[in-house]
Amino acid sequence: MEEIQRYKIVLISLICVVFIFYSYEPDFEYLETVAGILSIVAPEPINASFPIAFYQSAYVDYRFNPPRLRIFTLNKCLKSNQFLLADLHFNGNNSAPLRKNIYGKPMESQCPSAYIPASSCFYSPYIFSIELKTNEDPKKIIIHLDSKKIELDVQKVHKKTKVGITVCLQPVYYYSQWQNIVLYIEAWRAQGATRFIGLIEIKPWPSFPSLPVDIADKYPRIDDSVFILSYFMAMNICILDIKTTIGTVADFDEVMVPKNGRLLDYATKEMTNTKVGVLIFENHYVSLTPRIYTSNFSGVLSPKFLTFNRPPKYIFNASVIAIAQVHLPDSFIDSSMRSEYTDDGALLHFRYKVESENLTTTEKPFRFFPDDHSVHIKNMEDTAQKIFNGTMPTFSSKPYDTLQKCVKKIIPVEDKVCRSTGGICKEEMDKVEDWVYDKSDPLFLVAI
Ligand SMILES: *[C@@H]1O[C@H](CO)[C@@H](O)[C@H](O)[C@H]1NC(C)=O
Ligand SMILES: *[C@@H]1O[C@H](CO)[C@@H](O)[C@H](O)[C@H]1NC(C)=O
Ligand SMILES: *[C@@H]1O[C@H](CO)[C@@H](O)[C@H](O)[C@H]1NC(C)=O
Ligand SMILES: *[C@@H]1O[C@H](CO)[C@@H](O)[C@H](O)[C@H]1NC(C)=O
Ligand SMILES: *[C@@H]1O[C@H](CO)[C@@H](O)[C@H](O)[C@H]1NC(C)=O
Ligand SMILES: *[C@@H]1O[C@H](CO)[C@@H](O)[C@H](O)[C@H]1NC(C)=O
Repeated sequence: MEEIQRYKIVLISLICVVFIFYSYEPDFEYLETVAGILSIVAPEPINASFPIAFYQSAYVDYRFNPPRLRIFTLNKCLKSNQFLLADLHFNGNNSAPLRKNIYGKPMESQCPSAYIPASSCFYSPYIFSIELKTNEDPKKIIIHLDSKKIELDVQKVHKKTKVGITVCLQPVYYYSQWQNIVLYIEAWRAQGATRFIGLIEIKPWPSFPSLPVDIADKYPRIDDSVFILSYFMAMNICILDIKTTIGTVADFDEVMVPKNGRLLDYATKEMTNTKVGVLIFENHYVSLTPRIYTSNFSGVLSPKFLTFNRPPKYIFNASVIAIAQVHLPDSFIDSSMRSEYTDDGALLHFRYKVESENLTTTEKPFRFFPDDHSVHIKNMEDTAQKIFNGTMPTFSSKPYDTLQKCVKKIIPVEDKVCRSTGGICKEEMDKVEDWVYDKSDPLFLVAI
């Protein structure tokens, strides 16, 4: 019965997407798409007057057979006849580069995004990809935009053999709830996580570069017109950097747990020698007493479960996922793989201020830790003491409240403004806290 309910929801959302497509897309765009499919319009290389920024690495993904070259970009919506002109350079100077026309697809399957808060954004994340021959092993990619060039290095992606869970975190900005981070790391490690990308292994996700000077004043700044610093691309690049068998993408206030034992053991058992590539966990809001923002973590021993229907999250076999979305996978490398909902596990979502929603509480058999909670509570208290050298700062909700206030002012569709909160809330956020801004080398490149 529950399964049927879920399929209904999926079906309804599909209908909505189709509806949005037809009602939002102007007619000429639709005709262009049709013309593109029928190849009435001649193919056209993307040139230097097109606004586009490239993630610095291209990936050769050997999980596909034949392998695929995948290039990540942020750009204005593409027409279907537009392609990147790329030279694939192989080892040594003797072999001539191989020239390819590489076509792109929006990562969110349509451009502009159908998701309302992102629908007014000028820049969308794209993947350009092309099949390679098994023996083709490019060392660098040079993209030609007229006389301008971009050089990308090449990273390889293989099937995973190292047993463990890698946790990917979305780009985090203006974040002040440090207690969440302490609980997140302690709980995920107890569940079998061996690597955290975004945090333990900090990958900077800096401001995007300015477009080349000759076109910069014709288009919006990328920082101001890309949805939430383009979490969609960050998530999918992170997944390619996973080296362990299992992966997940979880926010700082989310931990996935099985009913019994550790998540790693449960997931390995459910996925090995089956066609299950993804396990989906229902979203359970939990409230902790005392609140962890008092820096007292003893509330994790007996979380209160709140009834509130929110979208799920999932863990995946990192050898088989092709493209991830936030709440469900988008596609598998091998189309015989499938996702499975499970009631033997849960997403524990310790969302900030959830107590103010007046939700009904229920009992559930899920806990943060698979073993002795008192040990973990002590660990978290010791960690916090160590970080702050014995003087824990009093928690202030001011940064959080300020960001919420700024975000709520933006009505994407009516105002035709992109909810690029990292960029457009900077001035207000700088008034409430002395933020540390990332100063690492750029990860995104533009043509020069
Ligand atoms: C660049 O591409 C645009 C759109 O495809 C086209 O209109 C323009 O003529 C091109 N410019 C050059 C210099 O080729
Ligand atoms: C290729 O040529 C460049 C410049 O001519 C040289 O610096 C480099 O060492 C050569 N690489 C190989 C692998 O021969
Ligand atoms: C993941 O999928 C691959 C390919 O189907 C399979 O060989 C492997 O056993 C799976 N890993 C886990 C942990 O289930
Ligand atoms: C944390 O809260 C619990 C429950 O209210 C209390 O018993 C305990 O003494 C508190 N711990 C600290 C370190 O304050
Ligand atoms: C929750 O209940 C309190 C007290 O009855 C009320 O003031 C508050 O507005 C309610 N909050 C929500 C989100 O309904
Ligand atoms: C930590 O606190 C101790 C005792 O208050 C002090 O002696 C020490 O210098 C502090 N360490 C740092 C790194 O601030």
